[in-house]
Amino acid sequence: MHNVDVHGASIPALGFGTFELDNPDARRMVKAALDIGYRHIDTAQIYKNEQAVGQGIADSGVPRDDIFLTTKVWINRFNQAELAASVFASLQRLGTDYVDLLLLHWPNPRVPLAETIAAINQVQRDGLARHIGISNFTTGLISEAVRLSEVPLVTNQVEYHPLLNQDKVLDCLRAQGMSLTAYSPLAQGEVFSDPVLQRIAQSHDKHAGQVALRWLVQQDGVIAIPRTSNAEHAQANFEVFDFELSADDMQAINQLTRQNRRTINPDGLAPDWD
Ligand SMILES: NC(=O)c1ccc[n+]([C@@H]2O[C@H](COP(=O)([O-])OP(=O)(O)OC[C@H]3O[C@@H](n4cnc5c(N)ncnc54)[C@H](OP(=O)(O)O)[C@@H]3O)[C@@H](O)[C@H]2O)c1
Repeated sequence: MHNVDVHGASIPALGFGTFELDNPDARRMVKAALDIGYRHIDTAQIYKNEQAVGQGIADSGVPRDDIFLTTKVWINRFNQAELAASVFASLQRLGTDYVDLLLLHWPNPRVPLAETIAAINQVQRDGLARHIGISNFTTGLISEAVRLSEVPLVTNQVEYHPLLNQDKVLDCLRAQGMSLTAYSPLAQGEVFSDPVLQRIAQSHDKHAGQVALRWLVQQDGVIAIPRTSNAEHAQANFEVFDFELSADDMQAINQLTRQNRRTINPDGLAPDWD
């Protein structure tokens, strides 16, 4: 396992996602993930499982300071008056007095970005979040957010996997010295049936999901946060640091991204993607 170091943040390159995990599953799986060795957990206000995530962390006995914990502010709390209060409530549910990373979950054109960025900067200065960042931002919005923020933005969390090209966003983030956190890194399970990934996996005695995750974390500045409700799958997803993809393997997978298969594209939320 390696960490991605960006603007003073040291982010474990493989994290554990908790989208769509209900409370019992979130509690059980966060503890299981920490037992396996994961040290990076991703949740969000809108997942409605922050309390269970906090309980899973407590159950594990892993010291809080050893864990990189992320949550995300939902878009209806992007105004100056509500953002900080919503983060206090998240911290209470999580049972901690800070998160390592706080993200704006989706762009929200109904609130001026300057107001939201000022509010999240203040939250960071007040110590509620060690680091801040954005999610689902396009290249235009990344540049605007960076320009408005006095505190460095450490990541943009976007969908990224072998079936979706993100070269433009990656180039933009690297130019800003930011990382890319790949969500839905398994394309919500679709990568398992890809024949090219299956062939490469066979040559490394791995499965297609492990190859997809390895392809992500083998790129500069890329972090992946797979989710599973199954402890054996969590173990398998963690075993991506004991092999390396060759330049040919990487190139063959790069070709697959031309399919541009986006699995998360909600009406009314999604921006005009790059
Ligand atoms: N910022 C955003 O807007 C945003 C949007 C989406 C997601 N995210 C974050 O990214 C995380 C990951 O994305 P995701 O949850 O959309 O999907 P994902 O991690 O790409 O895929 C999850 C699916 O893959 C299956 N799976 C995982 N490991 C497996 C394995 N080893 N073998 C077989 N099947 C496996 C899971 O089923 P099983 O449970 O049966 O293993 C589940 O159906 C989320 O949990 C969330 O934290 C953020």
